[in-house]
Amino acid sequence: MIQRLKDWLVGYQSAPDKDDGEWIPHLQDGPLPKHVAVIMDGNGRWAKKRGLPRMAGHRAGMKSVRHVTRAADDLEKIEALTLYSFSTENWKRPKDEINYLMSLPEEFIRTDLDELVERNIQVRMLGNKEELPSHTVDAIGKFEEATADNTGMVLNFAMNYGSRFEIIQATRKIIDDVKSGKMNRDDVDETLFNQYLLTANLPEPDLMIRTSGEMRISNFMTWQLAYSELWFTDVLWPDFGRKEFFEAIQDFQRRSRRYGAV
Ligand code: FPP
Repeated sequence: MIQRLKDWLVGYQSAPDKDDGEWIPHLQDGPLPKHVAVIMDGNGRWAKKRGLPRMAGHRAGMKSVRHVTRAADDLEKIEALTLYSFSTENWKRPKDEINYLMSLPEEFIRTDLDELVERNIQVRMLGNKEELPSHTVDAIGKFEEATADNTGMVLNFAMNYGSRFEIIQATRKIIDDVKSGKMNRDDVDETLFNQYLLTANLPEPDLMIRTSGEMRISNFMTWQLAYSELWFTDVLWPDFGRKEFFEAIQDFQRRSRRYGAV
């Protein structure tokens, strides 16, 4: 009882300032999430605070993508990291901002592909490719091709992704397969439904992180997040780095996951 109270209190304090060398063995000692999903929010506000255009915030956010990818990979046991990079609702943004966001995969190839290959990371995309500009699809294709044989962590960019769209698409495909006699209506259960989602071959996210103080899911993996631990921080995405990522993992390790049981 006393230990649990102590754990609870410690869990609400900020993480001790460990130097980098200490974080890894410390976290590897506890349970690590297999899949971490991140809503990278606050790029615009980060830029505004500095009197910069919103694009500067997205550019700075790319550095956080790099730092968090390295941190997740360095923990060695995280199988997948999914980053919400462009939602189906983001098309409502000004054209120049959309164009800039669509150019980021090409930029990321220039700056990070070599390191990702070296780290044995597989890059994938989650979302509807059809509405993306061809140069963005080509860049993603290059990433996927160059890292297809890698066997390490999956780095998943959710681009033009929306959970409701994904669920509707899955439902349509299931209806087609029932109609064509491939399976029966009664075969449809949670396991089968999972197989029709874009995340079919990934573990469910154990941890979902959202930056910038917003506490919403925003149409991100709503089916998959059913039992995930949620971690919110006021830190804006461009200020979110290795230390903040490790703090989130440390907090995850202090949670007791019961999946509805006592
Ligand atoms: C939300 O902040 C952020 C995004 C919509 C885009 C995030 C994308 C990246 C950081 C880069 C992704 C990298 C690749 C390679 C695809 P916001 O603009 O909504 O911030 P605000 O809420 O402060 O306005």
